[in-house]
This record gives sequence, C-alpha cells and structure tokens, in this order.
Amino acid sequence: MKSQIWIKSPEDIEGAVLTFKKDFEIKSSVKKATLYASCLGIYKATLNGERLGEQVLTPGLTCYGDRIQYNSYDVTDILDENNKLEISVGPGWAVGYFGPRGKYHPWGNSVQAVAELELLSADGSISYITTDCTWQVYTDEVTHSEIYFGETVDKTADIKYLGNAIPAKSFPLVPQIGADIVENEILSPIELIVTPKGEKVIDFGQNITGYVSLNIKGNRGDRVVLSFGEVLDKDGNFYNENYRKAAKPVIYVLSGDADSFKPTYSFQGFRYVRIDEYPFDDVDLDGFRAIVVHSKMERTGYFTCGDKRINQLYSNIIWGQKGNYLDIPTDCPQRDERLGWTGDAQVFCRTAATNFDVCQFFKKWLGDLRAEQRSNGAVLGVCPENYNDAYCTRISAGWGDAVTIIPWTLYEIYNDKSFLTENFEMMKKWVDYVRGVGDEEYLWLTGYHYGDWLAMDAGENSYVGATSVDLVATAFYAYSTELLVKAGYVLGQDMSEYEQLYKNIVKRFREYFMENGMPKEKLPYTEIITKGNNTVVDKERRGITQTAITLILHFNLCLPEEREPLVEKLSELIRNFDGRMSTGFLGTPYILHALSECGKHDVAYNLFFQNKNPSWLYSVDHGATTIWEHWNGIKEDGSFWSVGMNSFNHYAYGCVAEWMYETVCGIQILDAGYKRIRLAPVPDKRLGFAKCAIETVSGRIESYWIYENDCVTYEFTVPQGVIADITLPNGFCQTVTQGKHTYRMHLTNENSNDFCL
Ligand code: BGC
Repeated sequence: MKSQIWIKSPEDIEGAVLTFKKDFEIKSSVKKATLYASCLGIYKATLNGERLGEQVLTPGLTCYGDRIQYNSYDVTDILDENNKLEISVGPGWAVGYFGPRGKYHPWGNSVQAVAELELLSADGSISYITTDCTWQVYTDEVTHSEIYFGETVDKTADIKYLGNAIPAKSFPLVPQIGADIVENEILSPIELIVTPKGEKVIDFGQNITGYVSLNIKGNRGDRVVLSFGEVLDKDGNFYNENYRKAAKPVIYVLSGDADSFKPTYSFQGFRYVRIDEYPFDDVDLDGFRAIVVHSKMERTGYFTCGDKRINQLYSNIIWGQKGNYLDIPTDCPQRDERLGWTGDAQVFCRTAATNFDVCQFFKKWLGDLRAEQRSNGAVLGVCPENYNDAYCTRISAGWGDAVTIIPWTLYEIYNDKSFLTENFEMMKKWVDYVRGVGDEEYLWLTGYHYGDWLAMDAGENSYVGATSVDLVATAFYAYSTELLVKAGYVLGQDMSEYEQLYKNIVKRFREYFMENGMPKEKLPYTEIITKGNNTVVDKERRGITQTAITLILHFNLCLPEEREPLVEKLSELIRNFDGRMSTGFLGTPYILHALSECGKHDVAYNLFFQNKNPSWLYSVDHGATTIWEHWNGIKEDGSFWSVGMNSFNHYAYGCVAEWMYETVCGIQILDAGYKRIRLAPVPDKRLGFAKCAIETVSGRIESYWIYENDCVTYEFTVPQGVIADITLPNGFCQTVTQGKHTYRMHLTNENSNDFCL
C-alpha cells in the first residue's frame, strides 16, 4: 500500500456506522485491480454493490497505536466502466466502548478509513485511486453498533450526506498477518421455548460466538429485537445479567420487502436468543440462523472415548476455542470484557495448538505482545492493551509468562523456529524484568498478581486462591527462565548466564519456600490483595496447597527423592478436599500432569472423572456446551455463582485436553514437530476405549486403546519419518517407525509380557 491517506467524517455520530463513498470511471483496460483497505474501527468494503472478501470484522483487534493491518482484495472482475467504491466503518474495538474503562482511546473517538485501489493497465502502467477529501461521507442503514452493545440495522433509515471526508490522523499500517476472521458453521434453532415468564426464547443448542441472521418479510418499520444469553436461570427463564454492560440487544428494522439481516460490526456470545419484539404472533424459526464466527484455523486434533460425558467435555473444549479465538485469544466472548488476557492464553495454548493449526493466529498476537512489551520488559495482563485500567495493566506471574510459554509451545508443536527467533528478545526481556524487579534477584516477591486465580481454596470474597502468590510468582520465574534457556539452545546462543540464573532461582526457591522437601505451611505475604473498596483480604498465604505442590512437581523445583513424598502430600490434599481439586487458573493446567508424571494415574483419573463441584464434569452434568469460568458457575441449587464474573464460555480450564492427548492417549512430543514421540497411553476401564488423532507437521499420528473381554488392545499409527518410543503400562517398551502397530495386553496378568504383536 503506497500512499496511506487517512480520512474521517466532518461530523461524528456516536456509535454510528459511516460510509465513505467514491464514484470513479475507468477509461482504459485494466489487467489487474487490487484494493487495499483498512480503518480505525471495523469496516466492510463493497465495489459496485458487491461485498469484498469472505473476511468479517476487518481489520480485527490489534494495538492500534503501533500497527493496524490492512487487507487486500483482487477486484479485477468486479470493476466496470462506472464504479462505486464504498467503505463503511463502525466503531468496533478501536473507537467504541471497549474494556473495563469503556471509551478511552488514546487515538481519538472517530472512525477513520484508508484505502488504495491499484490499477494495473494492459500497457504495464499503474495508477491509483486513494482515499482523500473527494470521498463523500454518508450515514448508513446500520444506525448503531458497538462491540458490546449490539447493532441496529434500520432498512428504513434516512441516509444522510454528511459532507466530504476530511484528513485524519495516520496510523502505522502493516499487511494482514493474522488468520482471516470468517463465518464458519451455520446453526439452525433446535427449539422455541416459552419460558415461565412468557418470554419467547430460541435455543440454538450450542453456546457460540457470532451472530444471528434473519430472513423476514413484514411491514415497513416493523422491528425484531433480539437479546442474547448463554444459559437459562433456575426457573427456566431467560438470563443475561452476567453480560454486565454488554447485555444489549440487536435490533432489525424491516423495509417492507423481503429482508436479510445480520450484524456486520459487532458479534455476540450466546446459545439462547430472546425475541423481545417480533411483528407476528407466531415466530417463524426458519428465518433464524446462528452464524459461528472465529479466526480461520484448520482442525488438527481429535479425541473420542467410550464415556459420553467426557466426549461432551471435549466438545465443550473445542467450542470454547472457537468462541474465543476471534483474531486474538480472548477470555470470553459475551460480557463487557472479551480481552486478550495473557494468562488465559498461555494456559490454553498447548491444547489450542493441538486442536487446531493456530500458527498464523498466534503469529499476529505474538506481534501484538512484542509491540506492547514495555521497554523494561514488563508484559501486562491484557494485550492489546486496555488503556489506563489498573486491573488490566497489572504485571502478574502466570500472565506475563505468556511471552515465554507460548513461543516455546508453538515451536515444540510446529517445529517452526521463527516462533523463537521472532520472540527470543521478548522472552529474554521478560525474564530480565522479573530478575530486576524487587530486591531479590532470584525470587519474585513484589508486585500485584492475579495469583492462582479463582482457586477454590480462596477465602470468601477473594478471587486469588490460598497459595502464596510469591511462591507462584517465583515458580513461574524459574519456568520462564528454563524455557528461555531451551529456546536459546535451539537458536545456538550462549545461554550459560541464564542457565546459572535458573539454578540460582531454583536454589533460592527451595531455601525460601520449602523445608524438608515440602513447601512451608505458612508463608509471609509480601503483596497485599485488596478488593475494589480497598479492604485487605487474604492476609494468610500458604505453601501446602494443591497448586503449590503441583507447580513444584511439574516445574521440577524439587529433588528427585522429594517427588514421592510431595505427590503423596498432593494426593492427601485431594483426599482431604473430598477427592476434588482446589486449584485455580495456575494450578489446574498442571495438576493431572503432576500426578501422572509421578505415576499417580489413578488419582489423576479420579479427578478427571469427578463430577462434584469443582470438577470438569460438574459443568457437563449441568448442561454445559462450553467451558465455564467458574467450576460452579451454576450452583447445585441452580442459582448463579455471581452476576459480576460468571462467564459460561471461558476456555482456560479446557486445558485438560492436553492431558487427554498426552496421557489418556499418550502422544507426547520428544523432538519438536513430533519428529520423535513417546506413545505411552494410560488406559482406564471407566472410559472403555479412547481414540485420538493429531495431524502433526510430521504427519497423522493415531493412538487407540480399548478394553475387550480380559484384554486391552492398543493400536498406534506412526507416519513416515517419525520415530516412536512405545511404552505400555506394564513397562513393555519398543521403538518403532512408520506403520500401524498393535499390541494386546491380558488384564488377568497385566505384568506379563504376553502380547499379541
Ligand atoms: C478475566 C480472566 C482474567 C482475569 C485476570 C478476568 O476478568 O475474565 O479470565 O485472566 O480477569 O485475573
């Protein structure tokens, strides 16, 4: 894109979509015509009435001050002698109300457009039509749109000419890096419910992210008003208080002819749609569809087993990813948040990258992280940044560590070194930041962390969990340093300084937080956790918690001989908590791994099968179709955990799929890109069978086991060029290469080597 002339309207209309129009003639023959376009806001481009490209919600969510992506469209075939080019721009994330602080955008509050049509003539000459002050600005049939506040599409709207465009502030433009945001599945309603309150509610059967389309013919000016919800309340009535400020409707105003509606500049997270206004007594369900919107990603991971509830859990994990991978990894798609929370992203990253090919998706967001990393190396809780919001701009362990964990995970899964080359400096700056913060070089004792967010051992009124935040922070400091060292070695760097740093952190961790091979029971707290009204909560911080021991085991912060007593203690804590987890955002991703790595598969499986709150199956038993933010978002008595923080589409706890792929089915990466793998499935009779396939960069790997009569049969498929170390539960080991490999183990004598090969 050569000339980058930004324009805006001479008149701002709060929350409205504005259309920038240019009519032009083409006199000589054009060999190729390419339109480059972008905006501050969200745009839709049309040429001669035809919508360009299959992408929606362009140019996506980014750090607008640093870079805005532009999109390219080949428009050669649409070009005519007389042409009408239109770019309609809504406020979107960049200009509308977005984030806890609402409308606070350092770059201003006006939508802007930028475009360039490049015309290559048959004789090789190139000419351009660019945005400038000859473009005319009009109001639009979309009279209102905000990311959180729905959209009003009024087919009767008076389209007003606002004047010629005026010059606007320039923003740095980059060609599109991220995956296209596109429409995916289209769901039909499964039922029209009339609730006890008499509300008419469409059930689409699945909690999704996207929008509702409507085909309808009514009288001119008739309205259809739709509200969105994820769950019904305990009486079966419509509920969306958990959307907070985003509990706003989509409004369609009919033209009188046959109309087709759908939002263009906003999206909603929903399963249920309440019909607040409708022109007829009977609702024609056929006119309604739910369109699923997310970034383009090829499916790569598949899992199924003999337990319906686990299959539903897996489906919920997949849908959680679809719902939250919309240009950036968000925490949730429905309430007035939908932010790029770094912690959530790192927790779910390995699962995400196994479920789908997310290379292009993360290339862009890692770029956002690099752009926003502070010069001292600090990484904030949310990226793209939500300006001036103290809650989102905390520098927290487990959140900032996204910058080491994600590049390393993507490198391991895709064997793509560019994830390390592009991000190595960011990883290093982050570790250096932690190293320099506070007085202790090898401990992280300062700051304002989110801690083991939402853990069940937290005191009333606390979101932070009981585990010492200092312990969590220092454990993540060690982990990030370890990943930095590994990344450095892959890139051929001298990492001796950081290797020594890692050793020192582990040594100090053990001195400060542990005694006799166990974490200390009580630990001083050096941070103060407060509620909004500044009352200090959580005065006591503990070392003997499920999360603390999980981190020590999984991050290898103990001596080999300490593992056994530690895992015994962890099992005891689980037993004492009625066989349940008390972990939050930072312990949950690793607890099953920590148990399995120590051979406690039975305890891990028991947690996996647990269905009392808190557990993965609790939400499944309560009808979930996506992963919940709170283990008990809907409580036993049917009431809700809270109004303020209760998302039913929060993917973080879906990270358990990682353990399903790696332990249940046993596919583990030994060499980046699955070049060498371990196949070490752990069957459990309660599942009956388990089957998974991963389309890796080295080919399709499959693992399957089934209980039949008195045997477990294992079947593996190893692609060409991959070496697999097979380890079966009775200790049988074999290294194999390409092909199908089948084994049968007799249960009556599990320790025998009685295999049918
Ligand atoms: C988000 C989380 C996020 C957290 C920070 C919440 O409001 O929804 O998922 O990680 O804040 O602790």
